[in-house]
Amino acid sequence: MIKPFIISALTTDGFIAKDTNHAAYWTSKEDKARFVEITKRAGVVVMGQTTFKTLKNPLPGRLNIVYSLNETFDGAETTTDEPAILFKKLEERGFKEVAICGGQSIYTMFMKSGLIEKLYLTVEPIVFGKGLTIFNQDIDFKLELVSEEKTPSGTLLLEYKVLK
Ligand SMILES: NC(=O)c1ccc[n+]([C@@H]2O[C@H](COP(=O)([O-])OP(=O)(O)OC[C@H]3O[C@@H](n4cnc5c(N)ncnc54)[C@H](OP(=O)(O)O)[C@@H]3O)[C@@H](O)[C@H]2O)c1
Repeated sequence: MIKPFIISALTTDGFIAKDTNHAAYWTSKEDKARFVEITKRAGVVVMGQTTFKTLKNPLPGRLNIVYSLNETFDGAETTTDEPAILFKKLEERGFKEVAICGGQSIYTMFMKSGLIEKLYLTVEPIVFGKGLTIFNQDIDFKLELVSEEKTPSGTLLLEYKVLK
């Protein structure tokens, strides 16, 4: 079975962005390096069109899949598939893992599906006061902390397993 995971960077007060158009330039070099390593291992990244538009280019060396009802993009496949359907299609194409890369609407839809196995969360030593949370609907899962690493600059690199 394909292993889907969420990967996200959070402020210490729990936000993924100040607003919907706020790009994730504020994350540490260690977070960016982990993001590249883990998403390249998966080979496929999934995101909403708002997040995709915050990137300068499609993420290289990975299949980019973008959720949109309205638009298509160069360098990416567009989809409207439910999570289970998308995972089945990716599994048939030989992928062993799939990285769910945001933003809020996509993280929420996939976490609600109950199919997410892991969360790679980075907690950066920065606060925004208000902004977008990672999820915005009623969700109730228990997690197990599998690994933790603290960088010299105080970034926490956390890996959680979703308990089923
Ligand atoms: N800190 C982090 O790790 C991190 C990571 C990623 C993103 N972010 C931030 O998150 C913010 C964006 O989040 P967001 O929730 O506003 O936007 P988003 O999830 O990136 O994209 C939303 C769009 O995705 C499409 N979509 C969503 N569900 C769909 C479905 N079921 N079927 C088809 N299309 C669907 C819709 O596009 P259409 O309107 O075209 O249909 C919708 O407008 C940005 O600020 C970004 O920087 C932060």
